[in-house]
Amino acid sequence: MASALFFTCLTCSMFLLTIPCYVANQKVTLSLYYDSLSTSCATFIVKNLAKIFDDDLITILNLRLVPCGDAYANKSNNSTAFCQVYINHFFLPTSLVQIFCNIIYEIISDAIVLPSVQIPQHKPDGCKLDSLEACAIDVMHDVNKHFALIYCIEFLAIEGRHKEWETCFSSLGLPKKPTLNCYNSSNATKLEQNYGNQTMHLNPPLKFVPWLVLNDQPIGNDYENFAGYVCKAYKGNIVPMACQSVHLKQKTE
Ligand SMILES: *[C@@H]1O[C@H](CO)[C@@H](O)[C@H](O)[C@H]1NC(C)=O
Ligand SMILES: *[C@@H]1O[C@H](CO)[C@@H](O)[C@H](O)[C@H]1NC(C)=O
Ligand SMILES: *[C@@H]1O[C@H](CO)[C@@H](O)[C@H](O)[C@H]1NC(C)=O
Ligand SMILES: *[C@@H]1O[C@H](CO)[C@@H](O)[C@H](O)[C@H]1NC(C)=O
Ligand SMILES: *[C@@H]1O[C@H](CO)[C@@H](O)[C@H](O)[C@H]1NC(C)=O
Ligand SMILES: *[C@@H]1O[C@H](CO)[C@@H](O)[C@H](O)[C@H]1NC(C)=O
Repeated sequence: MASALFFTCLTCSMFLLTIPCYVANQKVTLSLYYDSLSTSCATFIVKNLAKIFDDDLITILNLRLVPCGDAYANKSNNSTAFCQVYINHFFLPTSLVQIFCNIIYEIISDAIVLPSVQIPQHKPDGCKLDSLEACAIDVMHDVNKHFALIYCIEFLAIEGRHKEWETCFSSLGLPKKPTLNCYNSSNATKLEQNYGNQTMHLNPPLKFVPWLVLNDQPIGNDYENFAGYVCKAYKGNIVPMACQSVHLKQKTE
């Protein structure tokens, strides 16, 4: 007993002398489930989330972006999931109209078309941009690069100029071809199916977008204060500057 304790202490102190005594990968995983053309998502990405690259919060984050809108699943018949797109004030200032993408995901077998669901002839802009952003993430693994592109598109979206998304590649000096090739291929559909499935299987389920999940726990309504939650969840020894200055504004524990 005593020798075991001694051995443990010795081992730990030996490690302290040689390698830093912290687990190398203590990054916190932050997943953002969002819809590219939702006002609240675009605003969150541009005004709140982008700050993690200005300060050093990104150094402790594994940021996962999941552009699929609200995946919709009929719980009583779970064979189909949809990429649900809210048409908001970018198009129709006061409309609460929701439409569904014509990307219908066959999760199990035959797709069913719910009677009340209107399937448009052409992919609406939101679905196009979700697919495009999914391709950007797939093609440009570097989070600095794909986030820069997504930031640029969301910035244009806020200004109602999302149709100019192609300009983001040139203004950022990012190659357009790989992402567009993915976008025009069946890879885009596969990526969106995967994102739709992930969104649909969230537990607890997604209630609105933007939906932030921190290490499997949803942040919920307080998403704008995500930095405080990230710092709190982080167990590493090297505390980033961002966590030294952040003030938790959590409403409840
Ligand atoms: C889900 O599917 C069932 C059976 O197909 C249907 O009766 C029900 O109305 C659907 N629910 C919604 C919310 O669409
Ligand atoms: C839903 O999916 C689960 C898991 O695949 C399956 O066991 C269940 O029977 C399905 N329910 C319906 C109503 O199809
Ligand atoms: C559920 O979906 C399957 C596959 O399309 C269909 O055969 C079945 O009738 C549906 N069940 C109900 C209760 O609507
Ligand atoms: C599609 O995905 C596969 C597998 O990830 C990859 O090898 C291929 O290059 C992709 N094609 C395009 C056009 O992005
Ligand atoms: C790929 O998609 C873009 C944007 O819709 C289009 O301009 C381009 O012509 C497409 N390329 C191919 C090879 O289909
Ligand atoms: C959907 O996600 C669930 C759980 O995340 C996974 O088990 C399942 O294999 C996925 N299905 C497809 C078709 O990707």
